[in-house]
Amino acid sequence: MPLGVRRTALATLATIIVTLSFSAVALAGNGGFLPGEAHSPNAHRIHRAFIFVSILTGAIFLLVEGALVLFIIKYRRGRRPRELEGPQIHGATRLEVLWTVVPVLILAAIVSFVFYELPGIVNPPPASAANSTTITIEGHQYYWLFRYPNGAVSINTMVAPANQVVHEKVVGLDWDVNHSWWVPDFGPKYDAIPGRVNTTWFKAPAGDYVARCAELCGIQHARMDGLVHVVPRAEYDLFIKNRLANKSGVVLGQQEWTGVCEKCHRLDHAFIGPALGGNPLLAEPARITPLLRQGQGQMPAVGHNWTRAQIDALVSYTKQFAKTGG
Ligand code: CUA
Repeated sequence: MPLGVRRTALATLATIIVTLSFSAVALAGNGGFLPGEAHSPNAHRIHRAFIFVSILTGAIFLLVEGALVLFIIKYRRGRRPRELEGPQIHGATRLEVLWTVVPVLILAAIVSFVFYELPGIVNPPPASAANSTTITIEGHQYYWLFRYPNGAVSINTMVAPANQVVHEKVVGLDWDVNHSWWVPDFGPKYDAIPGRVNTTWFKAPAGDYVARCAELCGIQHARMDGLVHVVPRAEYDLFIKNRLANKSGVVLGQQEWTGVCEKCHRLDHAFIGPALGGNPLLAEPARITPLLRQGQGQMPAVGHNWTRAQIDALVSYTKQFAKTGG
């Protein structure tokens, strides 16, 4: 084997080994090649479309790569002289028609299947008001805020009724940055773009589903995760009723502290923001309000649209941290 050819072969082999070992790591870290299980009718349809396209394209990949390897081996030069010209071929009408028509048919099959699944992905199934609910999702730096039909709110954990259509309004706030609401079990991502409202829906059995922010939104983007806690309807109704009755209560306050403030602050040491333990601000609604509403320096206006009750809820929880050693 000439030196140049041997070098190329070695370089190719090394590239293949490195690529395969990196993809193996990526594959393991990702929990496998396939997307996770779907838990909503629209996600099921996306999943089916994914499998359908994957099977077709996978078969084409094997066919093309198989033929390539086969031809490389079968038609290699062997002992023939380097200068020998191969046979000259012009036109093969039947073959040309075949390789035009077959791809057109495959593309038509993909398009038809996707258009068949699309309405069931976009449009929620019909449901009466008693069998559905609408939850508003706000993307803030760096937390999710959920507003329920009766005015109750929760932070980072959304509670939703099981086996019913849940309409989601994903709201981008004018004073905030882009975020993206993504619950992989329910299908696609929905961007929260300032000034826009995107709508989607899900219908899921009882269970907990992980949510993530899928848009780089700042220093704590990676920690902007959430949970969709799907429970029987009666439990959901009870949750939003109690939440509203306690709208300035310590339970919401604790969620705000751990879900909003603790993204950047600790009590006893500086983190992304300064340490907060012993700060008298934590017990004074009048002083903490402008800070939450307007932000300060690096701190975003995390509570720009919080109600009075939401701010009171925070202080009812944080006042315990206002004095040190107390
Ligand atoms: Cu919000 Cu990333």
